[in-house]
Amino acid sequence: MKILITGGAGYIGTHTCVELLNAGHDILVLDNFSNSKPEALERVGEITGKFIEVCEADLQDRATLESIFYQNEIDAVIHFAGLKAVGESVEKPLKYYHNNVAGTVTLCEVMDKYNVRNLVFSSSATVYGENNLVPFTEDLPLSATNPYGRSKLIIEEILRDTAASNSNWSVALLRYFNPVGAHNSGLIGEDPSGVPNNLMPYISQVAVGKLPELQVFGDDYPTRDGTGVRDYIHVVDLALGHVRALEKIVTDRGIEAYNLGTGRGCSVLELVKSFEAACGKTIPFKIADRRAGDIAECYADVTKAERDLGWKATFGIDDMCMSTWKWQTLNPTGYEVTKKEITV
Ligand code: NAD
Ligand code: WQD
Repeated sequence: MKILITGGAGYIGTHTCVELLNAGHDILVLDNFSNSKPEALERVGEITGKFIEVCEADLQDRATLESIFYQNEIDAVIHFAGLKAVGESVEKPLKYYHNNVAGTVTLCEVMDKYNVRNLVFSSSATVYGENNLVPFTEDLPLSATNPYGRSKLIIEEILRDTAASNSNWSVALLRYFNPVGAHNSGLIGEDPSGVPNNLMPYISQVAVGKLPELQVFGDDYPTRDGTGVRDYIHVVDLALGHVRALEKIVTDRGIEAYNLGTGRGCSVLELVKSFEAACGKTIPFKIADRRAGDIAECYADVTKAERDLGWKATFGIDDMCMSTWKWQTLNPTGYEVTKKEITV
């Protein structure tokens, strides 16, 4: 199949490109590089030995999108393109609704026009809001606590209405839990700009000496050690989940949501311990106040994805930490340093 990958130069997108190419699919990446670098796709080419077709454009550049569908026999779209910084979304909600929501509407309009109605969408466990009990099942009531989360919720609703209007649509809403880790080659991984917001890249930058210490946001949650519990999932497992979802939507019509997680929770302190074992260093940390908007526990019930997609996460926390550390040490400044320089 030929798959259009929006946001394919990003963290999850690059890993998914690798697995799609490994599975024998053709890909075309559309990315505006607002949060990624072309170098990431060069490395996907290096890992797979395949040429990556790339179109540098914004999702809302309708003319370019149309020319892609006009010139190519696209079978399906995997739609990663979106902004994802929760804090920034609180400060600049319109930017998030414009980019994420309006961008998705433009994409779907063009897909509809060119009769391509197979779509895999990057949703998030954030749509479960703060009032549900773990483990989260796909049929729980949904809510949002910030504009980023609300953009995902709104897009899910838009896609449900769209699928209801025409039975030729086939949509998978993939609700990712906490993606972490990197490809085992050490060539691609998460490359946050500035100080990371998320736990794993933060720990990793403390370990490499770029940041002095970790702040643990709260140790008084009702969890086994008082710190927040999350369902960290290896990005390669996540990427493989997309390949399975793609194969599912081209055979079965309709719209379905799937949790992509491991089904297991890991606390902040447990992740720190596992990272210390992976890197052989002590991670200095101090306990700080709870971060606004955080919930105590978030982990998936993965029964539906296992049953309907035949997919199951296989990597554990130790693999996630070891691959993150390999990526961090081989690429201390992310994609800014070329591979040639780091191997010298
Ligand atoms: P990322 O920022 O690394 O990748 C997103 C890519 O989309 C980037 O390459 C960016 O340049 C591109 N992009 C953004 N807006 C665009 C636009 N208007 N036109 C074209 N390209 C655009 O993020 P990621 O971690 O790979 O996440 C991918 C998707 O998964 C996002 O939609 C994100 O919201 C969702 N998601 C991520 C996480 C996570 O923790 N990483 C969790 C749940 C859901
Ligand atoms: C994990 C745990 C923190 C940083 C976010 C988004 C969510 C989704 C995934 C996109 C929590 C604690 C963190 C730090 C800490 N993204 N922590 N010190 O908040 O579960 O999810 O990424 O859809 O929408 O909100 O991930 O990695 O930020 O936090 O103690 O410096 O680590 O309190 O318990 P989160 P995270």
